[in-house]
Amino acid sequence: MAGPDAVHPDDQDGSVESWKAAVAAKSTYVHEHRVWRADGAYRTFAIRGVPIFDASGEIEEWVGVHTDITEQREAEASLQDHATSLERQVRHRVRAEEQLRQLNESLEARVEAEIAERHQTERALQQAQKMEAFGQLTGGVAHDFNNLLQVVSGNLQLLSKDLMGNERAERRLANALAGVNRGAKLASQLLAFGRRQALEPRVINIARFIGGMDDLLRRSLGEAVEIEVFTSGGLWNTYADPTQVENALLNLAINACDAMSGSGKLTIEMGNAALDQEYARSHHEVMPGQYVMLAVSDTGTGMSPDILNKVFEPFFSMKPEGKGTGLGLSMVYGFVKHSGGHVKIYSEVDQGTTVRIYLSRSVADEDREVTVHGGPLVGGTETVLVVEDDEEVRSIVVETLSDLGYSVLTPRTRRPG
Ligand SMILES: Nc1ncnc2c1ncn2[C@@H]1O[C@H](COP(=O)(O)OP(=O)(O)OP(=O)(O)O)[C@@H](O)[C@H]1O
Ligand SMILES: [Mg+2]
Repeated sequence: MAGPDAVHPDDQDGSVESWKAAVAAKSTYVHEHRVWRADGAYRTFAIRGVPIFDASGEIEEWVGVHTDITEQREAEASLQDHATSLERQVRHRVRAEEQLRQLNESLEARVEAEIAERHQTERALQQAQKMEAFGQLTGGVAHDFNNLLQVVSGNLQLLSKDLMGNERAERRLANALAGVNRGAKLASQLLAFGRRQALEPRVINIARFIGGMDDLLRRSLGEAVEIEVFTSGGLWNTYADPTQVENALLNLAINACDAMSGSGKLTIEMGNAALDQEYARSHHEVMPGQYVMLAVSDTGTGMSPDILNKVFEPFFSMKPEGKGTGLGLSMVYGFVKHSGGHVKIYSEVDQGTTVRIYLSRSVADEDREVTVHGGPLVGGTETVLVVEDDEEVRSIVVETLSDLGYSVLTPRTRRPG
């Protein structure tokens, strides 16, 4: 064993401590310490001392070996270093692989999302093209059909004068005229879908306008349907044909009522809406901009996606024979598109349906209903220039003013087309 002076200063105390402990415990002394060699280098030694006992059980002597294990320890240390560096490399690689995996996953997800979006846009485009083709065909047929009906109805009306007094013939004539009227109604519905309806748009505020439809809605829907109307404040004006807005709302309300089998809750909402570029890109024919939204929601049966895809088609109806013509939503669709608006349906089976109509905003003041002046009319003799593009309105104004004694001038108007 090395003398205490040769032991590395840091290991001296430990060597003594552990020696004392072995003596006290009378057990094998096992220890390692660094010893200063004559050449000035410290070497690591392992000590192993075994106590030999006398007959009385006291330690008689120690038999020990002091072995230079420096190389062993160095080899172990270098192995340890190597293992640590390997471990580091492995960890590094695992991390790199994880990053690569995450990158791939996010790339895959992005590609999938892109493909899904493209499919969605293609489907929407196909749907829009299909509706466009239907519209062209339907509108064309309806237009010719309407002209024919006018010839038939004109002649029937002339004939009625000739047949006056002949009761049987008059009855038959009435039946024929009723048929013509049904045909005319059908033609007008088809013209609406084909966007060939003559619209009479005005600047209206649909909140005020729909408020006036309360009674009509109540009567059409019955007592068992609860109606709630929400209007957001500062509702913009819109430019649309009021009769057709009313028609559309009635159609939607009746569909809702049918879907709820006559009892449930109908919600009418009106609000300002901005449709942005993003929305316009994914919806064919939508121009980004400011719109007035009218939404009709019900708590009815809802529709599955495959039905939803067909509801705007003319003559598509899930209602029993004789119950629905399948033209209600076609008219709504045609009218809204014809007015430069947009319509969108959301529906979930057993939950209900919401139909949203977007009509473009008008910044003009509302065209108020004409109020009739009650007092006696007082005329004059001045000259009045009447400028009015509606021919019928112009002629009645001219007639009234002339009647009151005014001299009336009208600019020569050129009719378009
Ligand atoms: N709010 C709704 N909830 C559930 N299904 C609806 C709703 N609105 C429409 N539908 C479905 O869409 C179909 C087409 O509706 P559309 O209004 O065009 O025709 P219709 O109601 O069947 O007949 P019409 O309106 O000409 O009397 C309906 O038959 C119905 O199946
Ligand atoms: Mg309907």
